[in-house]
Amino acid sequence: TSQKKVASINKEENTNKEDKQSKNVTLLNERTLPTGQKLTVIQADITNVVADAIVHPTNNSFYLGGEVGSAIARAGGQEVRNLVNELSRSHGNLGVCSAAMSASAKNMLSKNIIHVYSPSWDTMQQVERIDDLTKAVENILTLSETNKLQTVALPSISSGANGFPKQVAAQTILRAINNHFKSLDATKSKSSLEQVIFVLFDTESVNVYTKMSSEREAN
Ligand code: APR
Repeated sequence: TSQKKVASINKEENTNKEDKQSKNVTLLNERTLPTGQKLTVIQADITNVVADAIVHPTNNSFYLGGEVGSAIARAGGQEVRNLVNELSRSHGNLGVCSAAMSASAKNMLSKNIIHVYSPSWDTMQQVERIDDLTKAVENILTLSETNKLQTVALPSISSGANGFPKQVAAQTILRAINNHFKSLDATKSKSSLEQVIFVLFDTESVNVYTKMSSEREAN
């Protein structure tokens, strides 16, 4: 296959984390959007990715108990728990689909963590839940731009503890990223973002993504 092992996918311009490199990353795809941003799809543990922010799918009270949340808690320990508790106190409850940012622990590779209240799958309300996931991604990208971030890494939000089918989550997230930059382009707005990294972790997600991209190429 065309999969390559890459040692690092980021520029070395991070201020306080400049000597850090992403670890154990498999590059699945990378392309440049018409607005100039790189959209990079990788297989990795998101806590091994160097970025201005990584995304933590959570609930209204910033619970670090989903799959990504548990990995963040393992990587950042008590320091990250304290930072999340501080944000939770100062911010108050997160609304559905909304996002808020905290710093990440000093020993972590990302500078910040964007916490998003991720929607849960409901087979009786599929359209509504897909719309919610689209809104969540839009809120993440807008918050990244408000904070002048250059790189943000998103996991396959909602497809772990929250039960979205892996393919639905991956498709919805990629479409939402593309649409965000299309609408910026249409309004001639500038984005601080230079790279959006979509991080897949489990084998099923990688397989559905690979299948989706080969079907797209065949059409
Ligand atoms: N790095 C990247 N992705 C990962 C990692 C990791 N270390 N570990 C798991 N994943 C993948 C999972 O395979 C899944 O596809 O991240 C995706 C999202 O999983 P979750 O983190 O469980 O997110 P979500 O489904 O949105 O559930 C969040 O968990 O904190 C609770 O109740 C809270 O509603 C919230 C829910």
